[in-house]
Amino acid sequence: MRIAVYPGSFDPITKGHLDIIKRASKMFDKVIVAVVKNQSKKPMFTFEERRELILRSVESVGWVDNIEVEEFQGLLVDFMHQHNSKIIVKGLRFVSDFEYEFQQALTNRKLDEEIETMFMVTCYKYSYLSSSIVKEICMLGGDVTDMLPEAIIDDVSEQIKQRTKK
Ligand code: PNS
Repeated sequence: MRIAVYPGSFDPITKGHLDIIKRASKMFDKVIVAVVKNQSKKPMFTFEERRELILRSVESVGWVDNIEVEEFQGLLVDFMHQHNSKIIVKGLRFVSDFEYEFQQALTNRKLDEEIETMFMVTCYKYSYLSSSIVKEICMLGGDVTDMLPEAIIDDVSEQIKQRTKK
């Protein structure tokens, strides 16, 4: 069984993430969306919230069959071993993503030489998107249509506004 792991913060999931999940789910028997728990950058949404937002987004577009959402902390390679996967999937937006992603891919390969990182070039419509940009726009009262999955847009934008209210 070909199992891929798509790791990230997903704080919250954007349409760019959803596009990568959809495309990866067509290439692998199973895609595990690995939501990092402990991170230096403090997430706005809890793991449970991020998980629920990912599942709701995925379910609303009907790709649930081979997608799982799991929490992980510690090393990604340890998570890969626990889930019998050797393939990390990452989305690449710009050349500026590349340096950081290249370093992570090489580090993960150093930790386990059998682990491969596969980069998927993001859909150009979402190439400017990031969770941080979405949070900033919501916080400042801008329109995030086309940035967040339709199924979660109202809830997420309201929650971001509430949580960033001074
Ligand atoms: O969405 P993000 O914040 O870019 O995701 C980064 C993430 C979670 C994929 C990365 O920080 C990660 O893999 N963390 C696990 C710690 C680890 O394994 N570090 C060594 C490899 S760089």
